[in-house]
Amino acid sequence: MRPETTQRITNHELANNFIDEQVKEIQSQVKDGRVLLALSGGVDSSVVAALLIKAIGKQLICVHVNHGLMRKGESEEVLKVFKDELDANLVYVDATDRFLNKLEDVAEPETKRKIIGAEFIRVFEEEARKANNKGEISFLAQGTIYPDILESDGVKAHHNVGGLPDDLQFELVEPVKFLYKDEVRVVGKALGLPESMVERQPFPGPGLGVRCLGAITRDRLEALREADAILRQELDGQDIWQYFISIPDFKATGVKDGKRAYEWVAIIRCVNTTDAMEVTVPRLEWEKLEKITIRILKEVPGICRVCYDMSPKPPATIEWE
Ligand code: XMP
Repeated sequence: MRPETTQRITNHELANNFIDEQVKEIQSQVKDGRVLLALSGGVDSSVVAALLIKAIGKQLICVHVNHGLMRKGESEEVLKVFKDELDANLVYVDATDRFLNKLEDVAEPETKRKIIGAEFIRVFEEEARKANNKGEISFLAQGTIYPDILESDGVKAHHNVGGLPDDLQFELVEPVKFLYKDEVRVVGKALGLPESMVERQPFPGPGLGVRCLGAITRDRLEALREADAILRQELDGQDIWQYFISIPDFKATGVKDGKRAYEWVAIIRCVNTTDAMEVTVPRLEWEKLEKITIRILKEVPGICRVCYDMSPKPPATIEWE
C-alpha cells in the first residue's frame, strides 16, 4: 500500500525526483535483463514505457497490438512517438483482420468483449514468445496505477493484461503502481510525452468495439472512426471528461441528393464526472452541436442522422454497451 506520508506529485520538480528514483530502482531490479510491455497508447502504459526507455533503453521491448478498434490516428501516434522520437524497441502488430474476423456476426456485448480480451492475450502471447526466442525476457512491465490496486480489492478485477497464461512466467515491473492518474500525467509531461497522449480520455480496452453496437461491420466501423475523429477535433480543448460517438446496428430513413436514403445514426455522447460512477451531460453550445452534426452528415459516408444523448448516469451508463 502507498505509505500515507507519500507526497503527491503535483509539479515538474516532484515529478523529476520521482523519475530519478524510479530510474535507479528499475535499473537495480532489471540489471541487464529484458522487459516486455504491452503498449496500448493509453496514458498509463505510455508513461511506463517512457520511464523504462529512460532507465534501460533497448532492454525494453514494447508490443503495440492494433486490434483494428483504435480511434483514428491512434496507432500512428504510438509509432511516431515511441519509434521515431524515443527510438524504442517497438514491435507493431496489425491484427485488425484477426480481430474483425473473430467478431463477425457476434452481436452480444459481453461475448464481443470476451472475444476481444482473449484474442488480445493470444496475440500478445505469440509476440512475447517470438521476442523471447531472441533472448531471455524475464520481466513484464505493466501500467498498473494505484486505483487499479484499490479497485481490485473486491470491486472489480483490474484488467492490465490480466489473465496472461501461467506458463509465461515473468517478474513484474510496475513503476507507477502507487500513483494516482493526475500524478501519472504530471510524470508523463516531465518525461516529455506529448500533451495529446498524456491528457488522453479514458478509452475502453475493447476500443471502438463497444461503440460499433451489435455485430461489427467494417463499413460501419469506418464511419464510426471518421465521425469520432470529427467530434474529437471539434471538442478538442473543451473541459469535458469524456466524449465519443456510438453507432447502432440499425438504419434510419433520410433524403440525400433528392433521393431516399437509408443510413446509420451517429449518437454523440458527452459526459462530465469525477469518478465515472455518476455523470452529468454538459450543455454544449448549440452552434457547436450544429457544426458537428453538419460536418458528420457531409463528411462521413453512410450516416444520415445525428443525435445527442442527454441521459445522465444513472440510469444510463457512459458506454452504450
Ligand atoms: P460505463 O459505460 O460503465 O463506463 O458507465 C465507465 C467508464 O469505463 C470505461 N469502460 C471501459 N474501460 N474496458 C475498459 O478499459 C471496458 O470494457 C470498459 N467499458 C467501459 C468507459 O469508457 C467509461 O469511461
